[in-house]
Amino acid sequence: MKKMRIFLLATYVFLNQIVTFGQQAADASIIINADQGKYTIDKHIYGHFAEHLGRCIYGGFYVGENNQKIPNTNGVRNDVVQALKELKIPNLRWPGGCFADTYHWKDGIGPKKDRPTMVNQWWGGVTEDNSFGTHDFLNMCELLGAEPYLSVNVGSGTVKEVADWVQYVNHDGVSPMANLRKENGREKPWNVKYWGMGNEAWGCGGNMTAEYYANIYRQYATFVSDWTNSKQIQRIASGASDADYHWTEVMMRDIPKNLIEGIALHHYSVINWGNKGSATDFSEDQYFSTMRQALLMDELIIKHKNIMDRYDPDKRVDLIVDEWGGWYDVEPGTNGAFLYQQNTMRDAVLAGATLNIFNNHADRVKMANLAQTINVLQAVILTDEEKLILTPTYHVMKMYNVHQDAALLPLDVKNIMYKNGNRELPAISASASKDKNGAIHISLVNVDPTKSNTVNLTMHGAALANISGSILSSPKLQDHNTFDNPNKIKPATFRGFTKKGDQLMVTMPPFSVVVLELK
Ligand code: AHR
Repeated sequence: MKKMRIFLLATYVFLNQIVTFGQQAADASIIINADQGKYTIDKHIYGHFAEHLGRCIYGGFYVGENNQKIPNTNGVRNDVVQALKELKIPNLRWPGGCFADTYHWKDGIGPKKDRPTMVNQWWGGVTEDNSFGTHDFLNMCELLGAEPYLSVNVGSGTVKEVADWVQYVNHDGVSPMANLRKENGREKPWNVKYWGMGNEAWGCGGNMTAEYYANIYRQYATFVSDWTNSKQIQRIASGASDADYHWTEVMMRDIPKNLIEGIALHHYSVINWGNKGSATDFSEDQYFSTMRQALLMDELIIKHKNIMDRYDPDKRVDLIVDEWGGWYDVEPGTNGAFLYQQNTMRDAVLAGATLNIFNNHADRVKMANLAQTINVLQAVILTDEEKLILTPTYHVMKMYNVHQDAALLPLDVKNIMYKNGNRELPAISASASKDKNGAIHISLVNVDPTKSNTVNLTMHGAALANISGSILSSPKLQDHNTFDNPNKIKPATFRGFTKKGDQLMVTMPPFSVVVLELK
């Protein structure tokens, strides 16, 4: 039986890796315009998000300084730091999410034994002991080599509280808050650049109208200053949910351009908020619906961008997709408010296709944050006490990190369709970039779960030479890594391509993610 399974697996791998050129015409075709790179793919598109939610911070990032069982640095797990550094994590958003608009940062500084507790009202009503606070987060970012992105409390805080936080973390001279920081053991400021002015102000951040929030934003943004006028601070307005174009219109219309550097957008790939479905036990119909939601990101960005272009043709204000990802039912037996879900090949495809969309909108999308890094929603890492596993989404983000800060190469795509009954979606997702050393990377996703697809690549302005590739694939869409089988899904060398004249024929297995490198 075991031998049979190995034989079937080997046959699957073989069939999916061989080049079918000669038997089958190219399905999709893509021209890569290597001589037309105009925009840089900001590395911050590959950002992450850590909220005080479930086991993201506690048990995920942070296990406490006194933990003898799990190796840590000042309470932060060493295995997490290593995995995220290997991912080249560029930034981390904190402390929420909905939690941010309940958070009072002064509760999280000073000796831990003296810190007050609070109730985490959005995420299960659990007691938050504030043992992970500003110093813990910002020092952790230094350890990770990631830029911190702080979301301030607009919903239930005060302007003074926010102004004090900025002074506490950024002021280099003598000031009440800088002095307090020094008393708490940190001499030099952290120089935090990214500041989110509340979160989901239309919902958990205060149920505000766009017009009301735009005024509040103006007030808060006025007091988020770096005192030097060096324009180092990026103030990001709480943005629209999905297709709420009115929200973006009002932000762009009512906020003076000298007070705003970015506007957010949140979009989750959810089949149905009332019936999200299992993360691991899903049908092809459900897969299709998830992917339709994921690919909707392109339309959302185009339409929000169109509004921004009308008010800001010079593209001074960035679009920041600071929450995105797949959202399913929690794993059976886990706390419903903790949003712990598994991560399958569906999530790998979702991540690959979404990152391609962000890359292709590099002119305006300058940052994005996958929700959320560890143990929450579409996590890249799952932990169970001292055990840690990397999810398929982690592997995709690592394969794609070659695009960070590379020049986006425009594509001309002639796509084919993935059909599901009378519904259809583009089958191939792609983006390409040229890095500082001249290497070209092409990321391709075969969204179609029913068949292999071939893409015929043509390069304009560069040679199709010295090609190598990696692939993430698995026999079943529902496959995932577990604590018992942590390496079931991991990248492998990809050989499914062949050159013919000035073209490259690339054949990808169903629901797979491929990154090619041309040097
Ligand atoms: O990521 C989980 C939650 O989703 C965030 O707290 C909130 O901003 C969004 O609704």
